[in-house]
Amino acid sequence: MLNPETPTLDPFLGSNFIVHRSNFSLFLLSSGHQGKTRRRYPVPTQPRFNPDGYNARRNHNDACRNGAPNRSDMTKKIAVVPGDGIGPEVIREGMKVLTYLNESSKLGLQFTHFGWNADTYLATGISMPAGAMDDIRTNYDAVFLGAYGDPRVPDMKHAADILLGMRFQLDLYVNYRPVKLLDERLSPLKGKGKKEIDLVIFRENTEGAYVGMGGNFKKGTPDEIAIQEDVSSRRGVERIIRYAFEYARKTGRKSVCMSDKNNVMRFGGDLWLRTFESVASEYPEIEHFHMFVDALTMQMVRAPEMFDVIVTNNMFGDIVTDLGAALQGGLGMAASGNIHPNRVSLFEPIHGSAPKYAGKDHANPIGAVLTAAMMLEFLGFTAEATRIEAAVTKAIAANETTSDIGGPLGTIAAGDAILRHLQTA
Ligand SMILES: NC(=O)c1ccc[n+]([C@@H]2O[C@H](COP(=O)([O-])OP(=O)(O)OC[C@H]3O[C@@H](n4cnc5c(N)ncnc54)[C@H](O)[C@@H]3O)[C@@H](O)[C@H]2O)c1
Repeated sequence: MLNPETPTLDPFLGSNFIVHRSNFSLFLLSSGHQGKTRRRYPVPTQPRFNPDGYNARRNHNDACRNGAPNRSDMTKKIAVVPGDGIGPEVIREGMKVLTYLNESSKLGLQFTHFGWNADTYLATGISMPAGAMDDIRTNYDAVFLGAYGDPRVPDMKHAADILLGMRFQLDLYVNYRPVKLLDERLSPLKGKGKKEIDLVIFRENTEGAYVGMGGNFKKGTPDEIAIQEDVSSRRGVERIIRYAFEYARKTGRKSVCMSDKNNVMRFGGDLWLRTFESVASEYPEIEHFHMFVDALTMQMVRAPEMFDVIVTNNMFGDIVTDLGAALQGGLGMAASGNIHPNRVSLFEPIHGSAPKYAGKDHANPIGAVLTAAMMLEFLGFTAEATRIEAAVTKAIAANETTSDIGGPLGTIAAGDAILRHLQTA
């Protein structure tokens, strides 16, 4: 096993290339090769997962605060960051369930709202005030975030500063994206239902092509060259793979699939594969297999039951989790966590700001509501997280949803329906 103190490549050093901020653009993948596949066993009902225990993190934070004002141990501080587009609308619905549970179950959550968005950026030129990142790091337990992206900021500068800024600067290396079908009628796949669509994707969140490393040469001329680096460190790869295996062990999942494109991206791929095999050897009870990402996308559609836990790099994870969201019923249905065990972590629906729906009471709030549940689970409130998921499931069954999943309601009414099911359970 690698010594955690082993020096690793610093993406911002040791390169002759200019370092840029990343944006959210995606590349198209070529396809052709078929990965090695293995069948897996039926998945038992999964226990819920509290990533690495809230109390350990609490103690760590308290120890690190060193003279900072002491909050009661029962208080959990949440930074609420609605962002752009439909972000504020879906976060408002998430806050309805959080506020209700906070009051009725006395959870001790304390919410602070931050209005960092495209409007404030365009008005002031500031994405996030100086010191804000340190404040979040030191004084908060979790961040509940909507979405970023606004057509008036085409270079996505504020989004990169805030969202990627938090992922990188808070070292939120685990991107945790469950893919769970809550209702058979939402399945886009013929013959595949709740039993088959139940997997978890872990995306590496701090390295890969998203470090913004690269540059242009002779920009704007016919001879222009652009280079975009894909960075993998042994430490970065090992910790996300280990997290995936730990998750599988703690939740009773049977297998972990690592997916990449090591037949083409040989250097990084080789590091990923060697690390995967090495970590897997410490978890002999968990089946492990490798699959090329093009084959993975095909198999996720053809036979999603093949997968329990998938671990992959930043870019491939970005892409396959949208496919995962589609398997759940659409982008409006999916939740995600950006986690660093034992530290402040960030929770957001996986969809973006969907500008065309902003302010129209049209966006599906379920992704944000399930994100609120995931955050509660992270904070140690497993029973409340389960209650939220049950209320969402009832609202879907009653067709009290937005139109993207076939219901007649707007965002606010769909959020109210979930709240009502929560209150009457
Ligand atoms: N994490 C993030 O903040 C994040 C993620 C992805 C995209 N973005 C940004 O968001 C902006 C829009 O990007 P995009 O259009 O590619 O992706 P998007 O996720 O915002 O929307 C894509 C489409 O999915 C559907 N959709 C998404 N969320 C929905 C919801 N809650 N309810 C109903 N339908 C929903 C809509 O049809 C929408 O047009 C861009 O600026 C992009 O960079 C941000």
